[in-house]
Amino acid sequence: MSKSEVTEVLLNEDKIYKPSEKVLKNARIKQWKAAHKKAEKDPIKFWEEAANELEWYNYWGQTFDDSNAPFFKWFLGGKCNIVHNALDRHMGTPVENKTAIIWESDDGDKRKISYKELNKMVCKMANGLKFLKVRKGDRVAIYLQNIPETAVAMLACAKIGAVHSVVYAGYSANALRERVDDQGAKVLITSDVGHRRGKIIDMKSLTDKAISGSRSIQHVIVVKQGDGPVSMKMNRDIFYDALVETQPSNCPTEKMDSEDPLFILYTSGTTSKPKGVVHVHGGYMVGINRTFQWVMDVKEDDVYWCTADPGWITGHSYIVYAPLMSGITTMMFEGVPDFPKPDRIWKMIEKYEVNILYTAPTLIRALMSYGDEWPSKYKMKSLRLLGSVGEPINPEAWRWYHKFVGKSKCPIMDTWWQTETGMFMIAPLPSMPLKAGSATLPFPGIQAEILDGNGKKVPVGKGGFLAIKTPWPSMLRTVFKNPDRYIKTYWTDSPGYYHTGDLATKDKDGYFWVQGRSDDVLSIAGHRIGSAEIESALVSHKAVAEAAVIGKPHPIKGESAKGFVILRKGIKGDEELIVELKKHIRNKLGPIAVTDEIEFVEKLPKTRSGKIMRRVIKAAELGQDLGDTSGLAD
Ligand code: WT7
Repeated sequence: MSKSEVTEVLLNEDKIYKPSEKVLKNARIKQWKAAHKKAEKDPIKFWEEAANELEWYNYWGQTFDDSNAPFFKWFLGGKCNIVHNALDRHMGTPVENKTAIIWESDDGDKRKISYKELNKMVCKMANGLKFLKVRKGDRVAIYLQNIPETAVAMLACAKIGAVHSVVYAGYSANALRERVDDQGAKVLITSDVGHRRGKIIDMKSLTDKAISGSRSIQHVIVVKQGDGPVSMKMNRDIFYDALVETQPSNCPTEKMDSEDPLFILYTSGTTSKPKGVVHVHGGYMVGINRTFQWVMDVKEDDVYWCTADPGWITGHSYIVYAPLMSGITTMMFEGVPDFPKPDRIWKMIEKYEVNILYTAPTLIRALMSYGDEWPSKYKMKSLRLLGSVGEPINPEAWRWYHKFVGKSKCPIMDTWWQTETGMFMIAPLPSMPLKAGSATLPFPGIQAEILDGNGKKVPVGKGGFLAIKTPWPSMLRTVFKNPDRYIKTYWTDSPGYYHTGDLATKDKDGYFWVQGRSDDVLSIAGHRIGSAEIESALVSHKAVAEAAVIGKPHPIKGESAKGFVILRKGIKGDEELIVELKKHIRNKLGPIAVTDEIEFVEKLPKTRSGKIMRRVIKAAELGQDLGDTSGLAD
């Protein structure tokens, strides 16, 4: 970067984007400062008010309980079900005839499902699950692409009190097996095939491979998506259509305790084993409903499109649950943004008159690289608000998104949050002034700080660990079957705070600038994956003795992985082996984890206790200062 470019970036990052008169006039929260102040004074009351906007079978007694910290509880004694708020309560109101889901397939087919139809599908599926002996508390794994049946399956589980666990369809059979085994899923819901970029993915074969020998799976429900024959295992597998066909279209919604689990979602950490993040009915619905309505500034007739996949938390909170609780139309899209052409997204925004687009920096950068002419061809007049999530958005991408997609009139809500937080944590409200590249301020009721290695607050402008002081209703409750890991990962490194694992700075206006992870977790195209996971995949190959994986900056994906590999004695490292190792990672974990580069090395820098120092490898690779190397063995 030349010197003049640097100044330009700095100047622009300082630039403040004020909301227009029109945005202000229509904003749900016009006095954002007052809203923040009020919540700060009494966060518990703030969340009580938010909870009162939803329906409960029985109101809670105590709102918040920290007597067994960090195992916090919210809305104690309350009886509720998130599905009651997402579907049941809309029945018999004008919302029932509204479109709940618009879906477009990879090849451009579309489906529109009304709230009434969706409710019927969910009831039938719920009855089908009961028929297969799924009971309250049982785990159901869902391995499906971005299709309406994924939402139906999630809602059906929640309706009967079963715990769903969606496994991203891009994960390999091996990764699926690990997740199914950890949770002890009784039923798995999948499809015969999936579609992506005009290609067919054999989901059923992957599933069969994943659950061969499984001791927990009793049944597999197969959603038919293709025309070909499907190999079905007698007494175990059943087609979705056949299962629901004879089921009644009414099903009572189970009255759940506020603290009953709703779902488990696996996410990567610093070890090779993914963590099963547990979310519950009560606090989760309150947190995501309030944040969605305030940040996305939802209006009654909105068509809202979040381009994430239901396999990630973004899809859980903000494709399925929150939009349905708000009674608006949520879009689901099976395809990819540049197929058949790089205007797919812009075309769809016009076709379905999308009002809110919520997407990721990696997608923006990818579409940016095709040139301005693609979005410039479309007016996208329906768009009112834009959102970003998944990784820090670089100011260049922010400005491009603002100018070419939002036509300089749509505020961008850069939302910082995590699988664990369930809801937006640091995010603007549309009435707030924005800065390109900052997620702005903590959401009302949330108190965030930047801490140094000793847990002390750092001065303005200095980088440090991002930590959250105040518990919030939609926080994870534990790591499934592993409460020790819950304490160790989130409540140890920043005593008295929730440790996010991110690095950030706070500027003079209190705006947060998130820089990335502080731990050995990579974010490849916004997908979280641990260095240790990729390393363990590499080491499981017979040619590999040791491996270290680091993240490198990547212009589109944000970060890409590079593996350093020590081969076993007598094995020659060549191009062919690199191809094979990449294929091996793909088989073990899935395409998102494949390293862009692999380099064969003789030695890896280690501490005296034998721990590989990834930080040193990374600094050497990027030509940076190696930092403190006193811990190095040699
Ligand atoms: C990590 C969480 C939350 C849904 C998507 C990812 C990074 C997320 C932002 C943002 C900067 C962000 C953080 C965080 N991240 N959103 N707006 N600005 N960084 O969920 O897989 O749980 O990953 O994504 O590093 O810790 P996830």
